[in-house]
Amino acid sequence: MNRASESESASIDPAAIPQRTLSTGATMPAIGLGTFGSDHVTPDQVAQAVRGAAAAGYRHFDCASVYGNEPEVGAALQAVIAGGVKREHIWITSKLWNDKHAEDDVIASCRRSLADLRLDYLDLYLVHWPFPNFHPPGCDVTSRSAAARPYIHKSYMKTWRRMEELVDLGLVRHIGTSNMTIPKLKLLLRDARIRPAVNEMELHPHFQQPELFKFVLDNGIQPVGYCPIGSPGRPERDRTPEDTAPTEDPVIVEIARRHGIHPAVVCIKWAVQRGQTPIPFSINNYRANLAGAAGYPLSNEEMRQIAGIDRNCRLIKGQVFLWKDGQTWEDLWDIHGEVTPP
Ligand SMILES: NC(=O)c1ccc[n+]([C@@H]2O[C@H](COP(=O)([O-])OP(=O)(O)OC[C@H]3O[C@@H](n4cnc5c(N)ncnc54)[C@H](OP(=O)(O)O)[C@@H]3O)[C@@H](O)[C@H]2O)c1
Repeated sequence: MNRASESESASIDPAAIPQRTLSTGATMPAIGLGTFGSDHVTPDQVAQAVRGAAAAGYRHFDCASVYGNEPEVGAALQAVIAGGVKREHIWITSKLWNDKHAEDDVIASCRRSLADLRLDYLDLYLVHWPFPNFHPPGCDVTSRSAAARPYIHKSYMKTWRRMEELVDLGLVRHIGTSNMTIPKLKLLLRDARIRPAVNEMELHPHFQQPELFKFVLDNGIQPVGYCPIGSPGRPERDRTPEDTAPTEDPVIVEIARRHGIHPAVVCIKWAVQRGQTPIPFSINNYRANLAGAAGYPLSNEEMRQIAGIDRNCRLIKGQVFLWKDGQTWEDLWDIHGEVTPP
């Protein structure tokens, strides 16, 4: 696609979307539509975006039971498929929520998502967080579940064995992780029968996670990047005064100005070109993001400039998953190179 056609409103040929090859040899579109409405966009609005995005050319959708909209998204997907898009040409991810880590819950929870999404298999099923700690919808940053626990590898492996069983049962094609760290992934890679195909992680120009990014690629795991635009609509509980906005960074703003595109689209182009799979949420701008992903590349110099603006600024800190008093959110992320002790 050339510069002129990137701004046009016509749909984008899905064949023009870059693809990632997974460890199984399967291919996954290198951009997906996020479906978390951040507690303020309704399920019906998200479902409408799914239908619109599919018409625009999206073939990858990032869902989760905790987003509270899988029934509506499922109806939208059914309409997309009834409209002539083959199921095997769409990549659909869902995720096991934290309160369903118990052995008996994993398969039932996946079947629930399949029923809600009106599918007979998922392309990818992720363990949403490595902690079984639950928070109520719409909670604030001080919320903690009464039974909150740290990462316990033995428990995680019990959950993972059920995830492996989902592949054996043919209910999911790939399994993966989300919000993991290098120390936790090392343990999982040591013990897994079926290795994670994907790790979903926060990735944007102000949070590039170079070490984890390299680690997953070196281990044959595809990085999927959430909050690729810096999540301007994220819930209050995920905001702190120190947070920065990649779309306001002078480097991003200047590149956007030069190309006549929105700074958000620069973030998407950078993500796809760097080698991760961004999953931007959008109900209003999804077409521009897809066009950016499928269109002309940023120059090597622009890529180099964006590599230089990393601020190690994690936006989704996960405070609500802490398990004891006196902790800081850094304890969730194993910043000392080993799993944070209980
Ligand atoms: N695995 C996990 O733990 C995890 C955690 C967080 C998120 N996720 C996934 O990642 C997805 C994306 O993350 P996110 O929704 O937090 O943040 P995001 O994709 O970085 O930001 C979404 C916001 O950016 C705006 N936007 C998108 N494209 C734009 C454009 N071209 N121009 C201007 N504004 C634009 C959207 O507004 P409009 O709607 O108005 O376009 C929306 O408010 C989620 O939906 C979810 O699927 C996963």
